Amino acid sequence: YEIYLNGMTGAVPRLPTDLTALEALTERRLGPGPVGYVAGSAGDGSTARANRAALARHRIVPRMLRDVRERDLSVDVLGRSLPAPVALAPVGVLSIMHPEAEPAAARAAAAQGVPFVLSSASSTPMERVAEAMGDAERWFQLYWPKDREVARSFLRRAEAAGFTALFVTLDTPLLSWRPRDLDQAYLPFLRGVGTANYFSDPAFRAGLAKPVHEDLDAAVMHFVGMFSDPGKSWPDLAFLRENWDGPIVLKGILHPDDARLAADAGMDGVVVSNHGGRQVAGAVAAADALPRVAEAVGDRLTVLFDSGIRTGDDVFKALALGARAVLLGRPYVYGLGLDGQAGVEHVVRCLLAELDLTLALSGHTGPSTPGPADLVTDGA
Ligand code: FNR
Repeated sequence: YEIYLNGMTGAVPRLPTDLTALEALTERRLGPGPVGYVAGSAGDGSTARANRAALARHRIVPRMLRDVRERDLSVDVLGRSLPAPVALAPVGVLSIMHPEAEPAAARAAAAQGVPFVLSSASSTPMERVAEAMGDAERWFQLYWPKDREVARSFLRRAEAAGFTALFVTLDTPLLSWRPRDLDQAYLPFLRGVGTANYFSDPAFRAGLAKPVHEDLDAAVMHFVGMFSDPGKSWPDLAFLRENWDGPIVLKGILHPDDARLAADAGMDGVVVSNHGGRQVAGAVAAADALPRVAEAVGDRLTVLFDSGIRTGDDVFKALALGARAVLLGRPYVYGLGLDGQAGVEHVVRCLLAELDLTLALSGHTGPSTPGPADLVTDGA
């Protein structure tokens, strides 16, 4: 309505309302370097394309005459009531996109009432992001550090800073082969901007021979060795349960058997995700993995989804395929690059308004009723 009313006075929105147009616009304004890191993906990009293609293959079958005047987007996720089935995905080094970086995105999330998931590889220490959010809902994403003391320290800091749920990303024990990043020699990381949580951490600093500012190279190498650990296996999850009291969600689950193992290990949820196509080139599209995971553990775990969400109808489809809620990735990052906090708010508001309309026009009054019967699938 706001857009219609402003239109009466000749004012049009500052940013496109078609969120799929944001990538090209951001690239025009910020240049190919920063956008290369965000838009880039593994190998030839086939997994990222498959994410979009899989969502597009499902088509919504709208129902009529269902009285959709009273609508409510709210949903229970991990024991919290959220105003909408959407949270902002953890994305590292947001300073590449905007000088205000994570605090701007976090303030936008707080203003719109959607949870913000802060990346371990944030360019701002977690305490400063927490400060920017007041008492708004925030979750912490862990890249599980090799050093137990650093892992423990991260969990303690996150809890003290008011992060209520832990998202453990399992699909990045190593960084994949990412041509767009390799071709620019991982400059964003080498500049050290994704290391703020590490460099501010007492347990991390205790492992350095010299202070960070005296030997930056050594500190960066320590970070690279610490960042993630390809040696982890399922029994290691007990360590996280012992050191984190709130809900634990495993991010990057694609196989139903892994989802069952997560439930057996006492986890609270999974994010069906292929990291936006950035890890395994040739991996299954996330939307194709979702129904199988939901069927395997939907009654035992909170099933969340990301990788390919761009529009309100994408969210509808993910809900219909078994997700409780979705994480929004690249679109909000482009919003940040284009207009800081206001740009992120624009993206979230467009997505939620489009979701609300898609639900209503399809005969639904909330996010819990869409199911497989509301979709037809090309080729199925
Ligand atoms: C990510 N993602 C990610 N995930 C995570 O757990 N920790 C992280 O630090 C990052 N960093 C990151 C940086 C960038 C630039 C992107 C695009 C993505 C993955 C993210 O949480 C999410 O899974 C994907 O973004 C979802 O895919 P789409 O919707 O962006 O295609």
